[in-house]
Amino acid sequence: MKSTAELISMKNNDKIVMVTAYDYPSAKSAESADVDVILVGDSLGMVVLGYDSPVKVTLDDMIHHAKATRRGAPNTFIIVDMPFGSYHGDVNEAIKNGIKLYQETDANMLKLEGADSIEVIKGLVKAGVPVCGHLGLTPQHFGLTGFKMQAGDIEAAEKLIEEAKAIEEAGVSMMVLEAIPMDLAKKVTEHVYVPTIGIGAGVETDGQVLVYHDLLQYGSERLPKFVKAYGDMSSLAVDGLKAYSQAVRDKSFPDESTTYKKRVFD
Ligand code: KIV
Ligand code: NA
Repeated sequence: MKSTAELISMKNNDKIVMVTAYDYPSAKSAESADVDVILVGDSLGMVVLGYDSPVKVTLDDMIHHAKATRRGAPNTFIIVDMPFGSYHGDVNEAIKNGIKLYQETDANMLKLEGADSIEVIKGLVKAGVPVCGHLGLTPQHFGLTGFKMQAGDIEAAEKLIEEAKAIEEAGVSMMVLEAIPMDLAKKVTEHVYVPTIGIGAGVETDGQVLVYHDLLQYGSERLPKFVKAYGDMSSLAVDGLKAYSQAVRDKSFPDESTTYKKRVFD
């Protein structure tokens, strides 16, 4: 497993490969594919739990899924999202929530959105918890922003660069940049010492992240502009299930090889 320091030192050398995972099998496949980092994102709410935003995801949901993810990927660096509402309001409560999430899940780093939680970032880092930031489109704010490209004008872009510097100053070891113009992502990447991980932010960031269910088309129908599909698990699943149904109906399953033939009645 890479360390935080090794991931930081990949900046300007090798691209960092990050993918989300939420359970034992998805984590196992990510580890087998040798990705650098697994993110247990709160996209969990949408792609696994079927909500239409991440705001219904609780701290307990994140703990439950991050534990399963760790069991599937014991040797991969894992970042876990702090969910909506778990790090706003009281700073000490937020830090306590973060420590609980970090401790109970065996995570290597926590991620939180925006640049408004500077004191929480500082408190977690002070306690020894590595933190990843997340700027640009921050889905926990979808009620205000919608799901669309952010920082598309010069003022917003300059503000985002200031935010990147502010969270770096507060102690983040990495930051995700989501759905922003590629020239802005390039500028941020040049302005900070920590790695930037892009999703819908062009090729100039220090790494890329995609959502497992999007990139493998596993139950996700409408893909955002910035997703490229590298597999079609939904078709595989439906085809397999159809073949199974057919075999049950025509009694070709179970067959000899899948039946216990020991006789207990004569
Ligand atoms: O929850 C998530 O999957 C994320 C990534 C899209 C960065 O935060
Ligand atoms: Na997230």
